[in-house]
Amino acid sequence: MKSVVFSLALTLALGTVPATAQEAADGVAPEAETTLGRALTGPLAASQEAKDAGRPVEADDWMVVAAHPLAVEAGGRVLREGGTAADAMVAVQAVLGLVEPQSSGLGGGAFLVWFDGNTGKVTTLDGRETAPLAATPQMLLGEDGAPLGFFDAVVGGLSVGVPGTPMLMEEAHRRWGRANWPGLFSEAITLAEEGFNVSPRMAASVQRDAERLAIDPKSAQVFLPNGSPLEAGDRFTNPAYGNSLRQLAAEGAAPFYTGDIAAQIVEAVQNAALPGLLKPIDLALYQIKERPAVCADYRGYDVCGMGPPSSGALAVGQILGLLSPFDMTGLGPDDPQTWRLIGDASRLAFADRGRYVADSDYVPVPVQGILERSYLNDRAELLRRDTALPIVSAGTPEFDHALNWADDDDRARPSTSHITIADAYGNVLSMTTTIENAFGSHVMAAGFLLNNELTDFSFRSHRDGVPVANRVEPGKRPRSSMAPTLVLDNGEPVLAIGSPGGSRIIPYVANAIIAHLDWGLDVQQAISLPHRVNRFGTYDMEDDALAADLQAFGFEVKQRALNSGLHAISFGDRLRGGADPRREGLALGE
Ligand code: GLY
Repeated sequence: MKSVVFSLALTLALGTVPATAQEAADGVAPEAETTLGRALTGPLAASQEAKDAGRPVEADDWMVVAAHPLAVEAGGRVLREGGTAADAMVAVQAVLGLVEPQSSGLGGGAFLVWFDGNTGKVTTLDGRETAPLAATPQMLLGEDGAPLGFFDAVVGGLSVGVPGTPMLMEEAHRRWGRANWPGLFSEAITLAEEGFNVSPRMAASVQRDAERLAIDPKSAQVFLPNGSPLEAGDRFTNPAYGNSLRQLAAEGAAPFYTGDIAAQIVEAVQNAALPGLLKPIDLALYQIKERPAVCADYRGYDVCGMGPPSSGALAVGQILGLLSPFDMTGLGPDDPQTWRLIGDASRLAFADRGRYVADSDYVPVPVQGILERSYLNDRAELLRRDTALPIVSAGTPEFDHALNWADDDDRARPSTSHITIADAYGNVLSMTTTIENAFGSHVMAAGFLLNNELTDFSFRSHRDGVPVANRVEPGKRPRSSMAPTLVLDNGEPVLAIGSPGGSRIIPYVANAIIAHLDWGLDVQQAISLPHRVNRFGTYDMEDDALAADLQAFGFEVKQRALNSGLHAISFGDRLRGGADPRREGLALGE
């Protein structure tokens, strides 16, 4: 196995495939990458050792994988005491919102995929943010009619959607929890009130966003105490967050949607430097939605995940479906043709995603058509060549609605966090959780950061008079790339996986599934494989091993840090957990 190579962005050379508008809009660097620099003890130390050695953590009863050791520890305690994966998720999310505040939290949204150990049923819950009722399709355009600059729209109240995470935590516990709800917050409350040491990753993130954090007085107070960014090792407390957790523990999610915390959210959004449109009615109307799981066949496995408003399961399923006719096992990870096929399958999937996928409560989405075998076979014929596709455009999946949409801009940024849990009852949870960009809108209320999820909508409402499916509309949920995924074999879980990373989530997850299923890599090896991802033409790569071959095929190649946060559990004779070496997370199990 090649070692993972991290390096600064470096354009190696230009090939013949042109950069697109999406790529031009994606010039913002990803979340900072660091490793956790503190001593760990006991099982967490063993987990870190396994991760450093490139081995999965093995266990028999339960496993939790998340982005920070303190969150993993909190989830492990719940599972050890007989809690379910849903209980553990509540504890993990409560801690993540404190120790990894740049990525997810109570002010954001999430998608949850659940495998029920009793019934074998897969359920998907949509806790995505909604646009305020006062939002309009032109909301992200400037006075001149041109799209706002990304951070001009992000920083402030305009980008804030109604958070879904608190209600999703409550709903998951109501459906599948066993543990006493208030007790699930005890670690997070203690850490918020008594403090913890800022990790290098959090410190680097604060450092990088200091100027934007300074705009909001509450964010400045929390992250830039005495005017200077927090540093790694600083003792950090967040009593306002502790207070919000105490309300959540005592009263459930109600205070977030109709009570004191709702009022603080609205106040913060309306009085931000760039005021937003959120009103109390928007919070009061918020609902978690159960959606049909979207499952794609890959070599006899069912690859299941979150359908619209996420594009995750559709695009991952389409990439795999396009590759099904090809012998990926025979080609293996070192053959340049493997990466030509994966790269162009991914581009084809992104072309359909950009045109057709949006919130299906507002826009008819051809979910069946996109994953139809005959459609995928036709599209896969395009891959039967030796060089990169010179041009990629959306296909025409079968549907009983007329589909006349313009292509979207893709601006989703690589932030977010992924939680994977297996409990002792056979339940499995895969949940991707986000406040969108690092530090979301940079606006704080009640001790947590509010999301900037509304910038996951297309900034343009139309192109040449043709509407964009993912345009802003009142109450609508912005299209996501989050891909919390479960792979099943004859109804039994084989793999649970997901990642942060903006729209690169889709190739991160698809590639790791191929590495595990086709190349037989264990979860840690599959996660640690150097990333090579292509969404819109340019091949983003962590390593340069195949750069010359891919350039010869006609791809533009860019070497850069690719800051995924893949967290996975595989199922078989034992549970095996893998945590992304690019972040601070760990797998813990017994
Ligand atoms: N904001 C990241 C995503 O939903 O894809």
